[in-house]
Parts: sequence; C-alpha cells; structure tokens
Amino acid sequence: MRVLIVGCGYVGLPLGIELVRQGHTVSGLRRSLAAEKELQRVGIQPLHADITLPETLAALPREFDWVVNCTASGGGDADNYRKIYLEGNHNLHAWLAPSPPKKFVYTSSTSVYAQNDGSLVTEASPAEPEAPTAKILVETEKFLLAQARNQFPALILRVAGIYGPARGHAFKQYLRGEARIEDGGARWLNMIHRDDVIGAIIAALERGTPGEIYNAVDNEPVSQLHFFEWLAAQLQKPLPPRAPGDTETWRKRGVTNKRVSNARLRAELRHQFKFPDFRAGYAAEIAHMAADHG
Ligand SMILES: NC(=O)c1ccc[n+]([C@@H]2O[C@H](COP(=O)([O-])OP(=O)(O)OC[C@H]3O[C@@H](n4cnc5c(N)ncnc54)[C@H](OP(=O)(O)O)[C@@H]3O)[C@@H](O)[C@H]2O)c1
Repeated sequence: MRVLIVGCGYVGLPLGIELVRQGHTVSGLRRSLAAEKELQRVGIQPLHADITLPETLAALPREFDWVVNCTASGGGDADNYRKIYLEGNHNLHAWLAPSPPKKFVYTSSTSVYAQNDGSLVTEASPAEPEAPTAKILVETEKFLLAQARNQFPALILRVAGIYGPARGHAFKQYLRGEARIEDGGARWLNMIHRDDVIGAIIAALERGTPGEIYNAVDNEPVSQLHFFEWLAAQLQKPLPPRAPGDTETWRKRGVTNKRVSNARLRAELRHQFKFPDFRAGYAAEIAHMAADHG
C-alpha cells in the first residue's frame, strides 16, 4: 500500500518503520526540514508541510491508499488543540478529498470520556467532556465521522495513556519522586504500550470500518494504588506518599476515573497484544532501563 503518516513523532516514526518492514511504500509528513534525513534513513519518503497551513499541503502528492493522522499538539491550550486537531483534520480532509484514500485513521484520545465514577466505558458510552481541550477532540471526531458518511473513509482510534521507551506519565512521576497516591489510590489508570498503539493502527488500516470508533487500550485498567505497589516492588523502592483527592477535585482538574473497554479492538480489529497489561509492558521497559544503566 502507499501509506502517508502525518506526524512522525513518538508513535508515527516507529509506525512508519514497521510499515516499511512489512513492505509498504511509506511517506512521512513533518513540519521540520531537519527531520528529512532521519526519515530517509529508515526508508520513509519525507514530505515537508504544516497541517495548520493548507498552502503547504497543496504542493504535495496526495495519492495514498492509507493515511494516518497522528500529529500531536504537544500539550497546550484549547486554541492550540483547535489548530492542530480540528483545523488540521479539516485541512487534511480538504487536501485529500479529491483523491480520497481507502482508509484514514485519526488517533484521538480516551480523554473524550469524562466519566469519573470508575465505570466501564465502551465506544457507545457518552463522550461529553468538560475540559475545553477534550471538547475540541470530540468536535474533531464529529467532523471526521460526518466526512465518513460522505465518502471519506475516516475512522477513529481513541488512544489511552501511551507508555514505552522514555514515556509513561505515572511511571516518570514515580521515578522523579513526584507521584502521589490520591484518595487511597482508587482511581483507575488506562494505558497502552507504544508497540500496541502501532499494532492497533495497522489493524485499523487493515480491518477497521470507516465511520467507526475503536478504543485503543490494553486489557487491564489498573488502580493507581495497585500500579504504584507493583512498581515499588519491581524497583525495590518505597511507595509514593499519600495525598487527599476526591471525585469533585478530579472533576475540576479534568482528571477522570474510568475503566476503558478494548473489546472492539480485540473482537473486530482482532488486535493481538504484544503487551496485554502494564506488568508485561513495564517489565520490558524496566529491563531495558537496567540494561542501559548496567
Ligand atoms: N501520548 C499519549 O499518551 C496520547 C494519548 C492519547 C492519544 N494520543 C495521540 O497519539 C498520537 C501520537 O502521539 P505522539 O506521542 O506520537 O506525538 P508526538 O511524539 O508529539 O509527535 C507528534 C508529531 O506531530 C508532528 N506535528 C505536530 N504539529 C504538526 C503540524 N502542524 N503539521 C505537521 N506535523 C505536525 C510533529 O512533527 P515535528 O516533529 O516536525 O514538529 C511530530 O512528529 C497523537 O495524535 C496524540 O494526540 C497520545
């Protein structure tokens, strides 16, 4: 297949490497010219554009079978989110629509689910966040799903907290001594290893249905307490200190507490996990860290 990866960062670059390995013809779009050599070195054809500037897209080839948009705002406020996610997807759609790909995958986020009562959420659960940034992700999803009803084969992956080499929010907080066990550690965390995000994206390209949403998260939501207990035992370090926290303060901070189901990812996309749960994934990361420092 002729594949375009828009945003060759933490996920996009190794995704491209894997698709090249599988024999696909892969182009990678980035903003920085400096990245061209890095892409060429791994067999990815570099394209240089900024998805917030439609005129930079206009000059590029646009005949692709599969397109993955995994650009990220790198944090920032709602304005930033609007530019990268909402306007970025509008611009990509306008650019590609005259010659639409067979599949367009957009990596959204499980932050669109605002549930904070520990409930199990599926793709059919309400996605009604209060955080202005997450509201923009919902607006972006709605735009793409509307295009899917209009011959543009977009589908959505709602990705949980990504961890892997040099990444993992709670893990890094723990290593820096900044982690806290809030409200007894009852809050649920939902994660996925980067290798499985890549696997889920490829499964979506191969078997996903346009107009559909799939959660991309591993098999086992884990309570904050259980996660830190496991890490403390593995690293033979103390547990983080306890701190107050309750549903109301979480709600105000936009922190959620839910267990995200991956049943569709497994049953419909038939994704086979490399790291089915945090234990498998973090055991591998801890072993790599030990080897690097050994
Ligand atoms: N990290 C998480 O836990 C998490 C959770 C849920 C969903 N996601 C989603 O997963 C996807 C992959 O995230 P990631 O961690 O791989 O992100 P990342 O490492 O920050 O990479 C983002 C890439 O997007 C490119 N980019 C940013 N703005 C651009 C623009 N205006 N035009 C063209 N390219 C642009 C960057 O290119 P340059 O390097 O050239 O600037 C970079 O290569 C994103 O869609 C993110 O929203 C992430």
